[in-house]
Amino acid sequence: MGEQYVCKSFEFKDGERRIIRIGDDEIGVFRHEGDFFAYSNYCVHQGGPACEGLIIARVEERLRPDKTSMGLFFSEKDMSFACPWHGYEYDMRTGQHIADRRVRLRKYQVLQKGEDIYVVV
Ligand code: FES
Repeated sequence: MGEQYVCKSFEFKDGERRIIRIGDDEIGVFRHEGDFFAYSNYCVHQGGPACEGLIIARVEERLRPDKTSMGLFFSEKDMSFACPWHGYEYDMRTGQHIADRRVRLRKYQVLQKGEDIYVVV
């Protein structure tokens, strides 16, 4: 196990991502609400660049107390990113597919040492 340098934390603004290459592998690193997340850039569907598509707030249905729908809204707390090939959507915090939690991208640990950001590989 080793550590792959990503960049300085001040170079990595909230809401941004980096794609890093390690040999033949690619890892997508995200910064969201101050936290860092890293996942394999190979989509579990057909190997597309899973971390390179849209970063979007999750769409959720809100219900009234009687369980009737108030409609669809963008989540105020849950973000996801979508594979640009066919739209598989992954939870930003877990890497799980949002419709089937059993499906997930490989997750990597992210370390911050002072100003330096690393992915553990
Ligand atoms: S390869 Fe990612 S959704 Fe199909």
